[in-house]
Amino acid sequence: MSFEADAAVYDRFVGRYAPQLSAALIEVAGVGVGERVLDVGCGPGGLTRVLAELVGAERVAAVDPSTSFVEACRARVPGADVRIGAAEALPFDTATFDVVLSQLVVNFMRDADAGVAEMRRAAREGGRVASCVWDYAEGMTMLRAFWDGAIDIDPAAPDEGRTMRYCSEAGLGELWRRAGLRDVETGALDVEAWYEDFDDYWVPFTAGVGPAGSYCASLDGERQEALRLAVFRRLGEPQGSFTLPARAWYARGRVPGVTA
Ligand SMILES: C[S@@+](CC[C@H](N)C(=O)[O-])C[C@H]1O[C@@H](n2cnc3c(N)ncnc32)[C@H](O)[C@@H]1O
Repeated sequence: MSFEADAAVYDRFVGRYAPQLSAALIEVAGVGVGERVLDVGCGPGGLTRVLAELVGAERVAAVDPSTSFVEACRARVPGADVRIGAAEALPFDTATFDVVLSQLVVNFMRDADAGVAEMRRAAREGGRVASCVWDYAEGMTMLRAFWDGAIDIDPAAPDEGRTMRYCSEAGLGELWRRAGLRDVETGALDVEAWYEDFDDYWVPFTAGVGPAGSYCASLDGERQEALRLAVFRRLGEPQGSFTLPARAWYARGRVPGVTA
């Protein structure tokens, strides 16, 4: 999966939702001033930056396997400890953090159970582990419209609502319980993003980032134009600016041990 991407391209693509989504995830995880936090699968640093504004960059660590995203995150959040690595083998000591988060990452882990077990290991006893994933099947309008348009021209298109293992509230909660986390709670995070016009929405798909971008960029010119028109129709043929709602599911839990 292509996440060796230019950070500015990612910002115009899914990164557009990061500020609102990060604030919502931080709120349900209950991150407080003075806490040490880890952002797993930080990408170019959308969540890392909001965490640093809250607790101070010196209390924030982040990790991602993409070298281009790690470089961007380091530049955007000076003072944070940003490392190259994967969730399944986190390059951090055991029981280091008060809170361990990941935003839109669980579905990209090679082994999500191993990744969440590592997130738990990196958190202290009584610490929190929380994550969110898009509601690919329904509420993430930007991607839903794209895949509905793709299916219109190719019924076998690899719709993320079908291919992503963790895109339901129940599935994410089960992953958290299997990791042995306590007091597991799940729910929805509702955010939105503004687009100047349809091109502002469409052009980032053509850059090949993530599953939808990879599919779009794999099509020849004629098929890509057919897809563009199908997605335009699915969005209701917008003229001028528009806003799209997006829903993510979250799970949060507590590492067994002390309750503080
Ligand atoms: C959709 S992006 C989310 C980035 C960022 N968390 C955000 O909210 O904008 C998915 C990220 O997961 C990273 N990733 C892929 N496989 C991973 C793994 N095994 N462990 C940790 N991160 C991974 C990718 O490099 C990419 O940065």
